[in-house]
Amino acid sequence: MSKALDGVRILDFTHVQSGPTCTQLLAWFGADVIKVERAGEGDATRGQLRDVPDADSLYFTMLNHNKRSITLDTKKPAGKEVLETLIKQCDVLVENFAPGALDRMGFTWERIQELNPRMVVASVKGFGPGPYEDCKVYENVAQCAGGSASTTGFDDGPPLVTGAQIGDSGTGLHLALGIVTALYQRNATGRGQKVLTAMQDAVLNLCRVKLRDQQRLEHAGVMEEYPQFSDGRKFGDAVPRAGNASGGGQPGWILKCKGWETDPNAYIYFIAQAPVWKSVCQVIGREEWITDPDYATPRARLPRLMTIFATVEEWTKTMTKFEAMDILNKYDIPCGPILSMKEIAEEPSLRKTGTVVEVDHPKRGKYLTVGNPIKMSDSPTEVTRSPLLGEHTEEVLTQLGYSEQQIAALREDRVI
Ligand code: COA
Repeated sequence: MSKALDGVRILDFTHVQSGPTCTQLLAWFGADVIKVERAGEGDATRGQLRDVPDADSLYFTMLNHNKRSITLDTKKPAGKEVLETLIKQCDVLVENFAPGALDRMGFTWERIQELNPRMVVASVKGFGPGPYEDCKVYENVAQCAGGSASTTGFDDGPPLVTGAQIGDSGTGLHLALGIVTALYQRNATGRGQKVLTAMQDAVLNLCRVKLRDQQRLEHAGVMEEYPQFSDGRKFGDAVPRAGNASGGGQPGWILKCKGWETDPNAYIYFIAQAPVWKSVCQVIGREEWITDPDYATPRARLPRLMTIFATVEEWTKTMTKFEAMDILNKYDIPCGPILSMKEIAEEPSLRKTGTVVEVDHPKRGKYLTVGNPIKMSDSPTEVTRSPLLGEHTEEVLTQLGYSEQQIAALREDRVI
């Protein structure tokens, strides 16, 4: 079956996580992604957090499926020539080097346009233009600079970073959308364009509700769905950390379930959604709250939310998170078990949909990965293993028009 991005050729000059997430997605949609790496070491993540000696790390394999790898020293004149050929024959160049690295290599936007005016040049940088534009940035720096850390955690503790890689993978997702949009516009204009996603911007976009709350705080002085309000604590002048409160209009909290004393994930997220309030009261055996004016309306409940959650918790503590889930779902009460990575890895339904996939790798054997979270009816994803370093150098150079002798000479000169 054909794929959505069949025929799109991508010069993948990415490394670590943010850029590779983006090009992996494009590869899953059918693009031919050619990953250009330095001979010898390649993408630094190949060797980082290794769990199997001499095999590419899971860090690398789980971010580089469905790609081809070529080795190329782009600082040598002959390497630059190969890169020029690649630029002429590809539709998109994706890079996430430190600011200015591509220019220093001699491939400015102007030069790339001379070589291929149809090329889309997509970059991840830590920051957009401004005081920090020259800084190198990793995941947690972006989470801190994008407003996530200051709004995550509890207000009696320090700022927290989240386990979700919103700075890296979140930025890669944004960039992928920019790339396909630029390709779509190219159909009409015939021109490529620059696409930039700054990690700070991507994180802030995902923290949009917190900038909303900053302005609500400035207007009203309090935010009634925050635990600070229910606890009678003072708000400062910036959005506080809200613990496990819901970021939306439906009050929610994480509650203990049976086994919480020894199992760190014996918890459930519980939402006291207004339309099912009556059912909530019935399920936990507090029918009097249905008509009690202190509890009967969402507004009346706001200053009492933490008491309400504590009462519901007395009920959830009597059963496992899955038992609580079964009961609450019967009444349409929104809730979700806190799933450990072990539980997710073993969940049959995620295997069935291709969200968790088992992949075989010649050097490390079988491993699990997260498949394409975007399912398309006419462009199915088959996850294939990540390439070994330089596995496709000869194949790609031959496709680019290089002869056997030329390839041998490049190898001799350690260009590839
Ligand atoms: N051949 C020759 N040189 C190559 C090469 C190749 N195939 N591929 C990369 N290089 C060179 C680059 O040109 C650069 O050289 P220069 O510093 O002389 O200009 C050098 O390798 C190092 O690249 P750099 O991007 O600076 O790597 P780093 O390890 O020092 O920094 C980051 C890593 C991630 C901090 C940095 O790339 C960055 O800030 N990227 C943008 C933000 C980002 O994506 N961060 C998230 C990462 S998950």
